[in-house]
Amino acid sequence: MRKPLVAGNWKMHKTASEATRLFQQLSNSYDQSLAGVDMVVCPPFTSLRSAQVTLEFDSNTEIKIGAQDVHWEPQGAFTGAISAAMLKDVSCTYCIVGHSERRGYFGETDEMVALKAAALAQVGIVPIVCCGESLETREEGGALSFVTAQIRAALENISAEDAKAIVIAYEPIWAIGTGRTALPEQAEEVCNALRETLQELYGKEVADAIRILYGGSLNPGNVESFVAMPNIDGGLVGGASLVAEDFIVLLKAFS
Ligand code: 13P
Repeated sequence: MRKPLVAGNWKMHKTASEATRLFQQLSNSYDQSLAGVDMVVCPPFTSLRSAQVTLEFDSNTEIKIGAQDVHWEPQGAFTGAISAAMLKDVSCTYCIVGHSERRGYFGETDEMVALKAAALAQVGIVPIVCCGESLETREEGGALSFVTAQIRAALENISAEDAKAIVIAYEPIWAIGTGRTALPEQAEEVCNALRETLQELYGKEVADAIRILYGGSLNPGNVESFVAMPNIDGGLVGGASLVAEDFIVLLKAFS
């Protein structure tokens, strides 16, 4: 059985001091009813160290720390970039790669996403590999072929051994931050196609072990319908992860 995972992608929100308050609220809200779900918070780089200090030394919580991006080179003259080893050093165990905002606003290509995923796997950080189609692609009937191609490309340098631990996130671009979610059945259709692709790449045992998340306007009011879908193993949450009570409701729904 796959353990559900819910990750909060804070995007470019929260100063370091605001982030510390939210870590504390999450930590205080943590109880054993959440033990059945992996809880990951992905704050901006500037708050990772504070997350490490606040969360890692609180033995009552199992909150895991993730980053939102990484550079694929181990070190060097790459102004503004952060390496996988730097993330590891501040106790990151997860890192989002290939988010549609990075692809759309920062020109990230499938090749870059593949390099990033491999760099993370090399240091033992779990990549949360994102895919998702635009509204135009969906309306043309190309959603399944588009996202499965994104995932094939992203995993090009990932071995079957490393693949078992990775996480995939399906986030239709038209559902992100719009208040408009995919229908649970639409999301399930894509997640099922993604699992079939993973099976082609790595075999059934590995494909069955990989967690596939849905993301896009998930909130306490709509989460239950996604929980019921057999190929959806959790959520990647933007806006609702910035409010501790809402994020906890989403976690409880999947646990
Ligand atoms: P929202 O939950 O705000 O729609 O964002 C989803 C997302 O992009 C998470 O990575």
